[in-house]
Amino acid sequence: MKLIEAKNYQDMSLKAAEIIQSVLANKPDAVLGLATGGTVLGPYEILIAKYEEDSLSFKKASSVNLDEYVGLPSDHPNSYYYYMNENLFKHVDFSANQTHLPNGVADDIEKESERYENLIDGLGGIDLQLLGIGENGHIGFNEPGTPFDSATHKVKLTESTRAANARYFDSINEVPAHAITMGIGSIMKSKQILLLASGVKKAGILEKIVHEEISEEIPATILKQHGNVIIIADQDALSKLNSAHKQLLNT
Ligand code: PGA
Repeated sequence: MKLIEAKNYQDMSLKAAEIIQSVLANKPDAVLGLATGGTVLGPYEILIAKYEEDSLSFKKASSVNLDEYVGLPSDHPNSYYYYMNENLFKHVDFSANQTHLPNGVADDIEKESERYENLIDGLGGIDLQLLGIGENGHIGFNEPGTPFDSATHKVKLTESTRAANARYFDSINEVPAHAITMGIGSIMKSKQILLLASGVKKAGILEKIVHEEISEEIPATILKQHGNVIIIADQDALSKLNSAHKQLLNT
């Protein structure tokens, strides 16, 4: 893993957008694995600005998102489809049908999971997977206990994840109970992974990634086994790590 230290959220966002920009410069038809949530909003804003000033294009690229809530149609303001459209897709030049999310309202979620996994493989796999991280170490919606070899699948969300996401809904009761997510195995097949962490709320989990053994109880610890992971974290997210610990993230 390689650790890039950022001063603050804005700096983290800029550094992340620059890495995505360089992936597209080297491979215009790259497959980008995209994420939702608060952390990636800054990077998306900067990518939109870079697109507007003509310094990058998504025209030949394609994208696959990590996850989607089960039961929310694409036009629901809390669906990840809606989020991606509002916060990135409608502002840039991805070609039609080149952006993909799991279908959370498919009749058969098992079949949809299989279709999505095959779709990723059919695109040639993910060149760069962008990841946020949950306070419990989840990546995508892979909660503690998810098998490391899991493919795209349906998950029951933990109460802590539903509580963390309740800020986007009128009440926690409206947060769906299930989601469809790329599995940890799907994520680990990505050629490169870019994990972003900002704020003191993420300090505890970064500390655990450094100190804890690789374990399905802390899904993100598996990233220590991937050969090409970049972590960009700001000072608040790194506030529980001293310089020797940070060094361990650079091995
Ligand atoms: P956040 O979510 O970016 O909103 O903190 C990250 C995650 O839970 O994976």
